[in-house]
Amino acid sequence: MNESYSPTSEAKFFSGEQIPLELHKVRIVQKLHLRPVEERHRAIETAGYNTFLLHTKDTFLDMLTDSGTNAMSDQQLGSMMVADDAYAGSASFARMQEAIRDVFGTTHVLPVHQGRAAENIISKTFIKPGDVIPMNYHFTTTKAHIDINGGKVLEIFTEEALKLKSSHPFKGNLDLKKLAAVIQEYGPARIPYVRMEASTNLIGGQPFSMQNMRDVRALTRQHGIMLVLDVSLAGENVWMIKQREPEFKNASISDIMLELCSLADLIYFSSRKISSSRGGAIATNRVDLFNKMKELVPLYEGFLTYGGMSVREIEAMAVGLRETLDETVISQSPGFIKYLINDLDAAGIPVVTPAGGLGAHIDAGGFLPHVPQSEYPAGALAAAFFIASGARGMERGTISSVRDANGKDVLADVELLRLAMPRRVFTLSQVKYVADRMKWLFANRHLVGGLKFVEEPAVLRFFLGRLAPIGDWPEKLVAQFRKDFGESL
Ligand code: F0G
Repeated sequence: MNESYSPTSEAKFFSGEQIPLELHKVRIVQKLHLRPVEERHRAIETAGYNTFLLHTKDTFLDMLTDSGTNAMSDQQLGSMMVADDAYAGSASFARMQEAIRDVFGTTHVLPVHQGRAAENIISKTFIKPGDVIPMNYHFTTTKAHIDINGGKVLEIFTEEALKLKSSHPFKGNLDLKKLAAVIQEYGPARIPYVRMEASTNLIGGQPFSMQNMRDVRALTRQHGIMLVLDVSLAGENVWMIKQREPEFKNASISDIMLELCSLADLIYFSSRKISSSRGGAIATNRVDLFNKMKELVPLYEGFLTYGGMSVREIEAMAVGLRETLDETVISQSPGFIKYLINDLDAAGIPVVTPAGGLGAHIDAGGFLPHVPQSEYPAGALAAAFFIASGARGMERGTISSVRDANGKDVLADVELLRLAMPRRVFTLSQVKYVADRMKWLFANRHLVGGLKFVEEPAVLRFFLGRLAPIGDWPEKLVAQFRKDFGESL
């Protein structure tokens, strides 16, 4: 893949090196703590080897997620001061509606408190037991809501999707042949909608192409099937369409976003991601769909003009959505991710390529080939990397999946450690530190062993589950760290 140079986010040094440049300045800062390695070990032990259960006071770089942790702009913070507190008919909601109309081209808006709340309402409204929902890839909360309503997720990604090392620009594409076969097998009556996730979170923030979306639209339209687009990470997907799909090289981010959304019947998002705020929404131009869903909003979320969100966040969302269309804003996180991925890749570390959106993804299966999938290599790598660096990533592998009806672990397609790159939060020296500690861990990967559950919740176990190391590998890792780094943090 030949990704073009992006003049809005990268600068070429006199030396020839090309680096992502921060096109913003820091005006509010938060102190961080980098604890000594022994304390990092204690912290992850206390957290049951689950990075979700770590405290930020023990964490140096919080790369768990970009959800609700993107830096807000001065404009966003300013807008929060002029929010209109009203239970019904708030002017803040009108501004949110306008922003959604301008950015996505959709006029009917249902506010919700976050992305999964949108998934709850969409699943409850459209899914009946026995239905199947084809999609390019699932997200954890999406699948949980579909399951609970009696539906079944059918992932119909292309062969390229799970090839961790690839140069394919659009690993998030949906396989059209498989979609045709699914429609043939189940019939449109059992398919309430097809879902496209832009970009696909769990397989490494990989985008799909506009052409793929157009093709999916044509096929679903032919069979009268609704098309739902999750735009939580669409800013990055759109940026990568501009970078990688020749037809859009000179198109504006706004035009690409508008075309993408015009192809769907319904869009929804977590604004914790796309607009660097907190909240979410469902939006559509189809009044029939809007009317089917709207009664569930006051029931589960709040009145139709706030949906469980604070009006301050609603204002910040409106501004943040518009800022997502700014190339210097939307290119920053993918630029840093690309820098980190290229550096790790050059060092021989197995990473997901090409670099996607949301974060850098390390192939834990390739990193720790001696740890069987039943001993959760991605979880083990997340814990080991925290000990090595104080940076916390997120396990995206078998721990993030669910057991089958017989209680057996369903081994994930891929075992990934995700190092999220929240927008405009980190500096390049911090990214270089992450790369350095990952290289050290790779050189010492033979020391790292597996994990086992000691407390396992039945639903979304990755959030609250507690694990323990198999053997004393964390102690050995700490000892090696001291040997190699002396007194350094
Ligand atoms: N859809 C996608 C593509 C997501 O990435 C997420 C959340 C959701 C829906 C649900 O939104 O969290 O606001 O309820 N992703 C977060 C993450 C949690 O860390 O990747 P939510």
